[in-house]
Amino acid sequence: MLNVGIIGVGSYVPEKRVTNFDMEKILDTSDEWIRTRTGIKERRFASSEQATSDLATIAAERAIKDAGISPEDIGLIIVGTNSPDTLYPATACRVQARIGAKNAAAFDLQAGCTGWIYATTVGAQFIRTGMYKYVLTIGAEVITRMMDKTDRYTYVLFGDGAGAAVLGNIEDGGFLSYELYADGSLAQHLVLPAGGSRMPLSQEVLDKRLQYTTMDGREVFKFSVREISRLSKNVINKAGLTANDIDWFIPHQANLRIIDAGMKRLGIPKEKVVVTIDKYGNSSAATVPVALDEIYRAGKIKKGDKILMVSFGAGMTSGAFIVEWSK
Ligand code: UT7
Repeated sequence: MLNVGIIGVGSYVPEKRVTNFDMEKILDTSDEWIRTRTGIKERRFASSEQATSDLATIAAERAIKDAGISPEDIGLIIVGTNSPDTLYPATACRVQARIGAKNAAAFDLQAGCTGWIYATTVGAQFIRTGMYKYVLTIGAEVITRMMDKTDRYTYVLFGDGAGAAVLGNIEDGGFLSYELYADGSLAQHLVLPAGGSRMPLSQEVLDKRLQYTTMDGREVFKFSVREISRLSKNVINKAGLTANDIDWFIPHQANLRIIDAGMKRLGIPKEKVVVTIDKYGNSSAATVPVALDEIYRAGKIKKGDKILMVSFGAGMTSGAFIVEWSK
């Protein structure tokens, strides 16, 4: 078994900024409520011409460039998304064509906001077994299109974005431990009810606005705080480390209060926790790879640093891994 690591990263967020003050103009909400309850100050919205594969393609091209490989070297592309361009074909296939990865298999993986952690964990196994040399994993969303503009409870929380990683064999370090989890009995807490085989689109569906996301925020909140700390502890133990050994924590960016509560349970100091929610809101499966790319581009990660990434979301799902930086 060979070591597997992240050999390239890239991200893209759309240019359009939507501030809390912009939200005040269209909804019965306030900058104060959004900031104090969630930590969000602004988020990015894709332009009307952009769909998820457009964002994913830019992030992917940046990650491939960073890895110093050619698109033709890639054996597999996995896109973690909850807002695919179309229900089928997979967004990953659209990305495959756009970047010219003509030797790659491609599929989407849907695991709520945990999508990129799931995709990367799955992708790493293909390299570990020797089936593929390079795997491209992407977390990409134009998730704001799945939200109801008239629902202040959900519309203020989300933003669009994409982050990507190229996985490959490395000499030292790389992934030290992984953990994936799901509890489908909690599925009703975060759902996009219509547009699938259970409830196809119809005029009645549109009148009831069931083509948009519904969420029980408090239940998701409880699950998330518990899962951030539980999964982080599990991957730390599996890797034979202690919390002190971790140099960077990159949690899913859904709510600053969830991040703070989770990190407090783990006893993690604020300086080690990467926070981007103030700028980007919750971009679902994209939050973790976008945050990783930001600290990487800022030159904050050193070779040998141990980075713990953890996420949770619809399903309900959760997942975490630790990677020892090898670049
Ligand atoms: O990636 C996973 C996806 N989702 C999440 O992780 C979300 C997890 N949950 C949360 O982040 C929080 O539960 C929310 C931010 C969604 C809500 O915060 P909360 O502190 O749990 O608020 P709440 O549901 O207890 O609502 C408090 C009040 C309510 O008014 P009343 O009933 O006290 O009069 C809401 O109607 O806040 C009201 N409210 C708002 N007020 C202004 C809800 N949304 C808004 C809003 N602006 N946008």
